[in-house]
Amino acid sequence: MTEAPTLDLSVSTFFPMPASQVFASLVEELSTALGGARLTLEPKEGGRLLEVGDEGTPVEVARIVRWDPGEGISFLWHPPEWVGKESSEVEVRLVPELGGTRVTVEHRGFGKGLMTDQGEELVGWFASEVATTFLQATAPRRLGDWVTDRKARRPSGRAGRATYRDPIYHRPNFAAILEGLKLTRKDRLLEVGCGGGVFLQDALKSGCTAAAIDHSLDLLRVAEEVNQEAIAGERLKLVLSEADHIPFPTGRFSAAVMTGVLGFLPDAPATFREILRTLAPGGRLAVYASTKKLRGTPAISEPIASRVHFYEDRELVKLAKDAGFTEVRLEHPDLTRYMSDSGIPREAWGLLKGPGSQLLWARKPMPSASPKGSSPSSPKAGRGKRPARRPGKRRG
Ligand SMILES: C[S@@+](CC[C@H](N)C(=O)[O-])C[C@H]1O[C@@H](n2cnc3c(N)ncnc32)[C@H](O)[C@@H]1O
Repeated sequence: MTEAPTLDLSVSTFFPMPASQVFASLVEELSTALGGARLTLEPKEGGRLLEVGDEGTPVEVARIVRWDPGEGISFLWHPPEWVGKESSEVEVRLVPELGGTRVTVEHRGFGKGLMTDQGEELVGWFASEVATTFLQATAPRRLGDWVTDRKARRPSGRAGRATYRDPIYHRPNFAAILEGLKLTRKDRLLEVGCGGGVFLQDALKSGCTAAAIDHSLDLLRVAEEVNQEAIAGERLKLVLSEADHIPFPTGRFSAAVMTGVLGFLPDAPATFREILRTLAPGGRLAVYASTKKLRGTPAISEPIASRVHFYEDRELVKLAKDAGFTEVRLEHPDLTRYMSDSGIPREAWGLLKGPGSQLLWARKPMPSASPKGSSPSSPKAGRGKRPARRPGKRRG
């Protein structure tokens, strides 16, 4: 009887960077991506790779037997518990080549004893689990989604963190919002989609307190660094969250801001309703977005441009009104006057000029007069209740 076959899997590519830089970046990116796939990497010699199943108990998948920064990593890869005890070997190799580094990831001797039919099942496993994943990752739609997430919709990675630590192209809109909001030390500000926290940093100069959410863990960490002092002084709270489930109590804030986020929201009406809920009566809202005029320009280029929802002015106003906001008005602010202060190179000013910007202002209504029969002296009157709707005025 011939021995059951195994696979030697290998993937290799070239990066135009020195090996030490590739190694550092690869370890960081791998740790993050593996974490998203419920695998935890302990990045050191003797470290483990742990898989967390639905039952929550981590299972050791592999052990690191060589950790040479800038050169490579080797794992002893444990077989599944129902197969046996013989480990296979995974190696990550970094080899300097002219102008950069070649990285190869290789798994040798995979599938020992797993497939007993001399090959057919190995072909099936390889096609569905390896080749399909590889082809899917390189197909245009998925690639476009990845680029959009990475750069703007849920930024991550070194480049994304650097961009949002100093988002110079967003500074003019930050300035326009702050000028209109006129925050004071009495304000309690909410920011939805705070990115690297630079708007918060500017806003906190007013002496206000603030809380913010974002669904990018990478950017929340940047926002934490940028606003260390305010966090330590309990003037700022940052929470990882989706915009349509804001994890703060009803009526908490006196002002709310969302800038550069609207077009990415999968459920914008729910986000507006959540913002309204968390605002106190009379609380004001500022939402900054880009109009279709910027679609496909260097300001919002592909593949992001076709993944952003651009709202017509009347749609944006309707979003706010439908959620229950009042005093809704929309501006196309001319950001030119904020540009020199923001450090934007003069040759790029044209991008931000003109009607590419939408700035929506709105307010949460004050509660209407007490309904008949309720006594103003009653301790429960009005407490924690949503503002009553005016009879006969249904909002769709
Ligand atoms: C283009 S960035 C703008 C960041 C920041 N407001 C600024 O202007 O620099 C969009 C931000 O919104 C966040 N975001 C997008 N969709 C979100 C959602 N559904 N829930 C929470 N955050 C979201 C992203 O993670 C990212 O930080």
